[in-house]
Amino acid sequence: MKTVSRIDDLRRRCDAARAEGAEIGFVPTMGSLHEGHRSLLRAARADTDVVVASIFVNSLQFGPGEDFAAYPRDLDTDSAMAADDGVDLLFVPSSAEMYPTDPLTTVHVSGLTRGLCGASRPTFFDGVATVVTKLLSIVGPCRAYFGRKDYQQFAVVKRLVADLDLPVEVVGCPLVREPDGVAMSSRNAYLDGDTRARATVLYEALSSVVDAVQEGERNARLLRDRLADLVSREPALTLDYADVVDATTLAPVSGNRRGDRGRGRRRRGRRPAHRQHDDPRRWR
Ligand code: PAJ
Repeated sequence: MKTVSRIDDLRRRCDAARAEGAEIGFVPTMGSLHEGHRSLLRAARADTDVVVASIFVNSLQFGPGEDFAAYPRDLDTDSAMAADDGVDLLFVPSSAEMYPTDPLTTVHVSGLTRGLCGASRPTFFDGVATVVTKLLSIVGPCRAYFGRKDYQQFAVVKRLVADLDLPVEVVGCPLVREPDGVAMSSRNAYLDGDTRARATVLYEALSSVVDAVQEGERNARLLRDRLADLVSREPALTLDYADVVDATTLAPVSGNRRGDRGRGRRRRGRRPAHRQHDDPRRWR
C-alpha cells in the first residue's frame, strides 16, 4: 500500500492506473476505521482493480461547537487496517493541501439536505458535498463506495454525482452493526458505558417498525409515531427526528404508501450484488 499526501500525486497515480485499463474503487473516510468502513474497503477490493481510500477529517463539515478537534485520529492503526483490507493507495492529505485558502466555491445540494440530519446541522451537508466533489474530481472516473448507515449522505452524494455528471458510479453498502444492534460509528467512542447500553433502543425501535412494515403496515404517520414513541420511552435519549421519507427525494411520506410486492415483481432478472444494496427496501 502506498500512502500519498499530495493531490497531484494521487491524481497522477489514478490516471496511470486507468491508462493501463484498471477500474478504480474509491472509499472516502474520516479515519478511525472500524468494521463499517472495512466492509466498504472489502467491497471495493472485491469489485475493482485498484482500491483508493482517503482519510481526511474535513473541517468544512463540522459546525461551530461540534467535535472537529476531538474527532478520533489514529493513522497508524488505520493504515494497518487499510493495508490488511487490500487498499492500494491511501490518500491522507493535510488541511492545507485540501483547503489552501478558505474555499469560495462550495457545493450545495438543495432539498435533500434541509430535513432529517440537515435540520439540526445546517452546514454539514455543504461540507460533505464540497469535500466529496473535490475528492471525486481528484480520483477521477471510479466506483465510489458509501455506507447506507449515513443514508442521507448517500442520497446527497448520488444526487450531486448525477447533477454534476461526474463519471462515478456510487455504490451503497449495507449498514454494519455491533452484535447488540447499535450501528458501528467512530463516534460511539464518546458514549459512556451506561449511555452506550441504552443506545440499543434505537435498533429495537427501528426493528419494530421494520416488523410492522413487513406485516403489511403502510401508514407512514403510524409508523413514524411508533418509532418516536418507542425511542421516547428511554428517558436518557433525546430524539432529534423520526421520519418516514421517500428513499430518493427524502421527502416525508404522508398517508398510505403502495406496498412493495407489485414493484418487486416488475423487475426483470437479478441485479449484481452491490446493486441490490441500493434497493431502498433493504434498508435494515
Ligand atoms: P466516515 O464517518 O468516516 O464514514 C466513511 C464511510 O463509511 C461513509 O460512507 C459511511 O457511511 C461509512 N460507514 C461508517 N460507519 C458505517 C457502518 N456502521 N456501516 C456501513 N458503513 C459505514 O462519512 C464520512 O466519513 C464523511 O462524511 C465523508 C463521506 C468521508 C466526507 O468527509
